[in-house]
Amino acid sequence: VVDIGHLYRDAGVFTYDPGFTSTAACESDITYIDGDAGVLLYRGYPIDQLAEHGDFLETCYLLYYGDLPTPAQRREFEHAITMHTMIHEQMARFYQGFRRDAHPMAVMVGVVGAMSAFYHDSTDINDPKQREIASRRMIAKLPTIAAMAFKYHIGQPFVYPKNELSYAANFLRMCFAVPCEEYKVNPILARAMDRIFILHADHEQNASTSTVRLAGSSGANPFACIAAGIACLWGPAHGGANEAALKMLEEIGDANKIPEFISKVKDKSSHIRLMGFGHRVYKNYDPRAKIMQKTAHEVLGELGIKDDPLLDVARELERVALNDSYFIERKLYPNVDFYSGIILRALGFPTSMFTVLFAVARTVGWIAQWKEMIEDPSQRIGRPRQLYTGSPQRDYVQMSKRG
Ligand code: ACO
Repeated sequence: VVDIGHLYRDAGVFTYDPGFTSTAACESDITYIDGDAGVLLYRGYPIDQLAEHGDFLETCYLLYYGDLPTPAQRREFEHAITMHTMIHEQMARFYQGFRRDAHPMAVMVGVVGAMSAFYHDSTDINDPKQREIASRRMIAKLPTIAAMAFKYHIGQPFVYPKNELSYAANFLRMCFAVPCEEYKVNPILARAMDRIFILHADHEQNASTSTVRLAGSSGANPFACIAAGIACLWGPAHGGANEAALKMLEEIGDANKIPEFISKVKDKSSHIRLMGFGHRVYKNYDPRAKIMQKTAHEVLGELGIKDDPLLDVARELERVALNDSYFIERKLYPNVDFYSGIILRALGFPTSMFTVLFAVARTVGWIAQWKEMIEDPSQRIGRPRQLYTGSPQRDYVQMSKRG
């Protein structure tokens, strides 16, 4: 608590909390994390049960509406999502405006932000029906937008959605089918993709979700808010961590090089971090990391990859770190991103797509949080204060009298 009354005579007492480590910005019914116990609940349901028994669309319904759907609700929701998977053909032409070598996240920020220029009938945030249509549009269209970003990036023609497929299977097909060739979605790989989507769907007030809420608090339309969330997610300390984790594993390359790498991490002057390790809230094993590790084995097994050197490096790195006092004292454990890159690479995605997939999954969480905020009667514009450390008041000096 810092008294800065000498600068702002009427300012009173402020709390100064860089990084918001102990400041709640909202009340929320959506996601619960107990970082010490390694617990993650969506609307009260443990993440491992949802990942084991549920699917992503059901998880979307749960996060957005607050309860698991009845069979009739599920049918209606699935039908509505399926009906909204196409994007406006004029939007599809946007892609040509980007350089081929643009990072697909840059394309995502642009195209999702542009949705508000197309769907005018769902930008009135005060109309609950419009809010719902906007939300359903984004859950439905994000995979299509992401797959098109991927296809554009690799120079292949767009593949349009096939609505009889599941959400994850349809996404894999839009990414990997090519014209003139039969493409059959492997159900085990589709299940793995679905599980990755479930695990990334929400995570309470992380940086990108807080960004969405802050943008939304000004009354900005939901498409603009989600584009802001995507921009924030891009950073390597947040959604970009799985890309960084895989790069790190590739650079280490061999389990023999782990001790040398760990000593570099421990030397603070190197500014090297063990990517995919540590978390602001989890001071125990991230429950999502356990499911990711299991899924990595399933995917590699299905693809007949008996020895993936990167998986060997990852497992050994985890073992070494979990027995090292540096990591033990700081309560640094693998997070969701430590193993996800290995799965995504095995599925055929380049690292540049990893954060894009995260954005597809997190869209429902962002939207559920945005809706909760809009519907909260105590909601006000988000306006953090600051601790001013600059010059006291001084008089303007004419140019001729300076220097
Ligand atoms: N490797 C090495 N040391 C680390 C790591 C790491 N991955 N993470 C934290 N530390 C150390 C810090 O250097 C610091 O040490 P010190 O006390 O000697 O100064 C201590 O642990 C505390 O670290 P903070 O940076 O204060 O922790 P914070 O809560 O701010 O950071 C974060 C959390 C950003 C996730 C951090 O652990 C990190 O950078 N991890 C690597 C990137 C990553 O995997 N991000 C994904 C997060 S999950 C997600 O977004 C989906």
